[in-house]
Amino acid sequence: MAFIVNEQSTLVPQLHCYSKIRDRILPCFLLLLALIVPALAADKVEISVDATKTGATINRNLFGQFAEHLGHGIYDGIWVGPDSKIPNTRGIRNDVVAALKAIKVPNVRWPGGCFADGYHWRDGIGPHRTVRLNPDWGGVIEPNTFGTHEFMDFIDQIGSHAYVSVNLGSGTVHEAADWLEYMTAGQATTLAKERATNGHSAPYKVAMLGLGNESWDCGGNMSPDYYTSLMKDYSHFVRNYNPAQQAAPGQENKEEMMKIAVGPGGDEPRFVDWTETVMKAYQNHSWSWDINGLSMHNYTVDWQHKYASTGFGETEYAQVLKSTLEMDGLFNKYSAIMDKYDPQKKVALIVDEWGSWYAPLPGSNPGFLVQQNSLRDAVLAALNLNIFARHADRVRGANIAQMINVLQAMILTDKEKMVLTPTYYVFKMYVPFQDATFVPVTFDAGTYKHDDVSLPRVDAIAAKDASGKIWLEVTNIDPNEPAEIDLNVAGLNAKSANGQTLTAPKVDSINTFDAPKTVVPKPISGKIQDGKLALSVEPKSVTVVSVE
Ligand code: AHR
Repeated sequence: MAFIVNEQSTLVPQLHCYSKIRDRILPCFLLLLALIVPALAADKVEISVDATKTGATINRNLFGQFAEHLGHGIYDGIWVGPDSKIPNTRGIRNDVVAALKAIKVPNVRWPGGCFADGYHWRDGIGPHRTVRLNPDWGGVIEPNTFGTHEFMDFIDQIGSHAYVSVNLGSGTVHEAADWLEYMTAGQATTLAKERATNGHSAPYKVAMLGLGNESWDCGGNMSPDYYTSLMKDYSHFVRNYNPAQQAAPGQENKEEMMKIAVGPGGDEPRFVDWTETVMKAYQNHSWSWDINGLSMHNYTVDWQHKYASTGFGETEYAQVLKSTLEMDGLFNKYSAIMDKYDPQKKVALIVDEWGSWYAPLPGSNPGFLVQQNSLRDAVLAALNLNIFARHADRVRGANIAQMINVLQAMILTDKEKMVLTPTYYVFKMYVPFQDATFVPVTFDAGTYKHDDVSLPRVDAIAAKDASGKIWLEVTNIDPNEPAEIDLNVAGLNAKSANGQTLTAPKVDSINTFDAPKTVVPKPISGKIQDGKLALSVEPKSVTVVSVE
């Protein structure tokens, strides 16, 4: 018997078992068994969680959503109007609200996107709405029936917070300042009285304020210097007056509104200069303006050749996941620039647009960015959420694009029908990680190879929640082999691991209106084996367990 080394550098025995020689069969079989059993054992993944050490808080805002006036993201997706036969509360669909409540959406970014820099808030208040066009997204009619009050009602119904992006591109500082006064003033100003006349006497809360969107492109094609000086004006004049959101001098108020400046959009060289310019200005900022966040946009997309969202195989699965892992490098790159000007990490990096961007579904309006959502998207979401968690000291907010019917959506609707996507279930499974404390995990990720793509075979994060419970997430990227996990938790005599796992028959399995349960989580438990906590996770799966 000789050993050869195959491509994966594992030793493979060259056995010569001649069927004719009966008395050699048994020894041959035993020999084969003796070689295979340790080989399988070697495939085990040892995960060590050190519950005695903790890191940054995994900010709940990392699980934020994005809802733009784009395609059926708002109209049909959220808003059906009070006269609709679809069950609704003041025009907002009840099925969607119930589904979103269950994933504890921390904040919703609205009204865009590119749409925000063409949005004029007065078009969307009061009894007479201004009907306009939506030139960014399909050139369709924008009725403005969903405006400030409807958005705030929606936020209230799902138990979330408002992340409002103001118009730096085609609006004015005056217009944006008035909008914030209209929404937040507690005293009887003319704008606050107008808000009351329109049905809401109490001031609204605005938790986060976006100072423009992609101002280097659809938000106005600005140079970094031009944007920075305009952004300073907005930062100073666009004030939140809500009494509950004010901080007493020298004190912090957790409800104070965060102001988020436009930051980089992917890996293009121009974004280094952009980030440097904004952060350098921040370093020298005076009392009269401030920012608390810098936005970053990064989609998993090939702009030249957009991938299909359904009907693909292992090759496209591996390629897309390889591309999504580039998020980590972007954080390293932009965090390093931010560290230079803000070593105390006061300014959060907020990834307020991320997710998969595929080719539009055949037959759909290409301006509506309609795509399906498969098991691949579930794995992609988990990988990104884990990258966010590992950078939680600087990355303290993220908004997946987009919440309903657009790009990597949580929910798809068609008239009265609604279906929850694989990505929705990942967000649901990750709820225990919201505001939990990062706990270090060590493991040998191994390698999954397909064609010329090499990826880590598994990924994992762990966290401790407010009650002290340890949560572990394991993603098995390998679509062909299960991963046998041996779990060791320092500081805890772990005896059980219980939770949910999400997988499906194929990498491109999807949920549809007719078959909504193809990709849904099912229960999973670890077992004590040989004194160790063992967890077996299926190929191409996302698993979240609590360890006790
Ligand atoms: O999410 C779709 C679009 O992508 C947004 O409107 C824009 O900000 C980005 O380019």
